[in-house]
Amino acid sequence: MDQPLETYQDEIYLAGLGGVTPDLPTDLNELERAAAGRLTPGAYAYIAGSAGSGDTARENREAFRRWRIVPRMLTDVSSPSYASTVLGADLAVPFLLAPVGVLGVAHPGGEVAVARAAAACGVPIVLSTASSTAMEEVAEASGDGQRWFQLYWPQDRAVAASFLARAKAAGFTALVITLDTRMLAWRPRDLDQAFQPFLRGVGIQNYLTDPAFQESLAALASAGPAAPASAGPASADLAAPASADLAAAILQFTRIFGDRTLTWDDLSFARDHWDGPIVVKGILSVADAERAAGAGMDGIIVSNHGGRQVDGAIAALDALPAIVAAVGSRITVLFDSGIRGGSDMLKALALGARAVLIGRPYAFGLGMGGEDGVRHVLRALRNDFELTMRLSGYASLGELCPQSLVRAGPSS
Ligand code: FNR
Repeated sequence: MDQPLETYQDEIYLAGLGGVTPDLPTDLNELERAAAGRLTPGAYAYIAGSAGSGDTARENREAFRRWRIVPRMLTDVSSPSYASTVLGADLAVPFLLAPVGVLGVAHPGGEVAVARAAAACGVPIVLSTASSTAMEEVAEASGDGQRWFQLYWPQDRAVAASFLARAKAAGFTALVITLDTRMLAWRPRDLDQAFQPFLRGVGIQNYLTDPAFQESLAALASAGPAAPASAGPASADLAAPASADLAAAILQFTRIFGDRTLTWDDLSFARDHWDGPIVVKGILSVADAERAAGAGMDGIIVSNHGGRQVDGAIAALDALPAIVAAVGSRITVLFDSGIRGGSDMLKALALGARAVLIGRPYAFGLGMGGEDGVRHVLRALRNDFELTMRLSGYASLGELCPQSLVRAGPSS
């Protein structure tokens, strides 16, 4: 007798008997296409967009198509378990929600709605520094849910230390330091609409509510009037600004956002201020993976930021096998960029990732359906993954290996 796993598929078909079909597409590629007509043009462009010509984002998807699954027959898949523990997080299926900033542009529920949905589904979140809601409020919504914090390392070390102390106090258990975004890339979709949420005061709530950031603002104010911010007036719906002069706060944010002087040696600062696991995100070369391991990091995320930073960069999946071969036995290798379904998850895991993160699909789910939309995406991805694993003959994650896949095209 089959052990029931995830029942989303059954639930959908049963609802169909009463004439009900899902509100959102169950194919996450289709979800992205549907979002184009449902989100505001600015929000859609911000989430869908990528660097330059979009070549890296396209290549992320193509790289998955170049690997093909070779299903195995007549293995016992009656009672599978795809559970694992990754850097202290208990995963029923091996995926987490990637840090996606500024979610308030997608839906008024923003990160709070995501945190609730993720906690209900047992999927850990990685909260962005660029959250449109302060981390304490997101932590409260997350409740018993598992949560990691992602750091955009600011130039002001007092603010960096304060973010880490706040994240720790709010129950975030692991730290993800994003290395690939010390400045924002050339993003034509945003540029063509002149849409930059930060300059409208959205996505900087962790800064506005931060005591060290507020101190730096006060020091600036006592030193003389701030130069006018390049942004227009701040958005009216901004909650609890730290300063009456929001324009000055936005200007200060733009000054300290990314530390371009940062080098590998600086990671010791993070270690001194964070006693849990630390993961660096944005690794695409064996050399950098080795540097991360040498710097005492607990893990890395092989990622090109969903193609949003360097146009023409290597597909994240193409970078994965050599990195796993080099450091996979020493540190935890995670993966993101381009995951859109269960088969993509299977491929990344077979190539050695311990778990994957998803970005755009849940942001589109949020934009189209709020908390329910995120739940839909998480349940769809989980059920799709479990079915793909079982149909491919695997009852556990440990059975996956590089031989689970072949390269596409005629064999040589
Ligand atoms: C991101 N990403 C991101 N990464 C990060 O470390 N901090 C952040 O604040 C953000 N913000 C963000 C906003 C939006 C709208 C997107 C789409 C992405 C990158 C994210 O964590 C992840 O690397 C990619 O989204 C993975 O690629 P896919 O799943 O979107 O293809």
